[in-house]
Amino acid sequence: MWELAENKSIPIYQQIIEQIITYIQDGTLHPGDKLPAERKLADYYQVNRSTVVHALEELVSLGWVLRRQGSGTIVNEGNWGRSTIPRVDWRSLFTREALPKEPFVEKAQILRNDPETIDLYSGELPLSLIPDFRFPSYTWEELLLEERKQSPLGYKPLQQVICQRIKQEQKIDVSANQVLITSGAQQAMFLLLQVMLQSGDSVAIEDPSFLYSLPIFASAGVKLYGVEMDQEGMRIDKLEQLILTKKIKLIILNPTFQNPTGSTMSEKRRNELIELSRKYQLPIVEDEVFSEMNFSTIPPSLKELAPHQVIHLGSLSKIFGSSIKIGWIVADQDLIQRLSEAKQMMDFSISIFPQVIAHTALKDPRFEQNQAELVIALKRQAQAFTEGAKSIVEDWSISTINGGIYVYLTWRHQNLTRKDWEIFLREKLLIAPAFLFSNDTMAMRVNYTRMTKQTRQQFFSKLETISKELRRS
Ligand SMILES: Cc1ncc(COP(=O)(O)O)c(C=O)c1O
Repeated sequence: MWELAENKSIPIYQQIIEQIITYIQDGTLHPGDKLPAERKLADYYQVNRSTVVHALEELVSLGWVLRRQGSGTIVNEGNWGRSTIPRVDWRSLFTREALPKEPFVEKAQILRNDPETIDLYSGELPLSLIPDFRFPSYTWEELLLEERKQSPLGYKPLQQVICQRIKQEQKIDVSANQVLITSGAQQAMFLLLQVMLQSGDSVAIEDPSFLYSLPIFASAGVKLYGVEMDQEGMRIDKLEQLILTKKIKLIILNPTFQNPTGSTMSEKRRNELIELSRKYQLPIVEDEVFSEMNFSTIPPSLKELAPHQVIHLGSLSKIFGSSIKIGWIVADQDLIQRLSEAKQMMDFSISIFPQVIAHTALKDPRFEQNQAELVIALKRQAQAFTEGAKSIVEDWSISTINGGIYVYLTWRHQNLTRKDWEIFLREKLLIAPAFLFSNDTMAMRVNYTRMTKQTRQQFFSKLETISKELRRS
């Protein structure tokens, strides 16, 4: 009874805690039962006594056992004060060194408030391009009635519209119990980490990727490994090497209009990826937040190609801005159930307000029209950017824009250092250097949708000046 299965990815004291909680939950240990003495437990588990003491202290603080002077450690009689093991170890997070702040980002945040700054760093559309819709005019009573349409998976009418849109656009037949509404795609990602991974596990992502600097991975103890990309997307040979050497548990990628490169994975590569993930039985998380901002032909989604192997994430915050922080996860029913339980442990359910607004926006009779107009506007912006970029092609290679909001510019000359990128801050030209997404220091992400005719001219003229200075450095 008192022994542990081999599991190197979780610290031993935590395995002891989990085992004792399982024994209490499955009735092996009853309320009032006395646990063996510390020394005995240390012998059984073949660990130092201090490890057992650490585990028992945690169990006491979580409320599962009581320690009484003279009578040892006893299983608690009831549920009061009990909690499960926190998956996010807040206590150790606060005692551990906080993740160092990225100095470039800190300076950029300050500059964003300066009216002279040209902000092409932001991950949002400019206000002028965000599709308009009529705000719902609910009375308080009507809202309370809508509240009754909330299920643990979200506001049912919103779930249904999302199902319809997925069916229509991706030709995947999903039902409402396969869709979980979240507060944006990032929360969706966070839930997946909590449910599917353990501290110490490894995840493969694209290199570069916007996930590189997100703190949710480090805080869950999850290690990220980047997979080199080529013209067709993530390289499958490199991914396989990683799977074999780093024991990858999950692959997360943003195959359409990727953040930061703006590139789209080819259909051939998508099929190869699916084949590889089948070979190693690895789930894929497909982050598809930009796929509706598309003015070209894009390959079928990974979810469409392999419905049971792929977890699909979507979000409205790319189209409507972060004030409608609504996203969703599409997966098989069992996983959605587990994710929903994890979510309820954190925040019960999402407030009805953003969900009603998101539903209204998607059901607005003008939505399709607005969406079509947005795509036309994006195409026009992309063309104007490409045209303007002719003046800088000797210094920068420029990715082709087929949709989404980003274009990627790579310096053609000598190696740049992080310091070189400070010139952009000095010139109040806010872009996102590649080192925010990878170890690379040679490229930058630019949100081309945020330029007006005037700021586009300023951008290219400032970039010409900066390029001259960079060449001299
Ligand atoms: C590719 C990608 N996925 C997910 C997110 C996060 O989306 P949300 O705002 O819905 O949390 C972002 C935001 O920048 C993103 O670029």
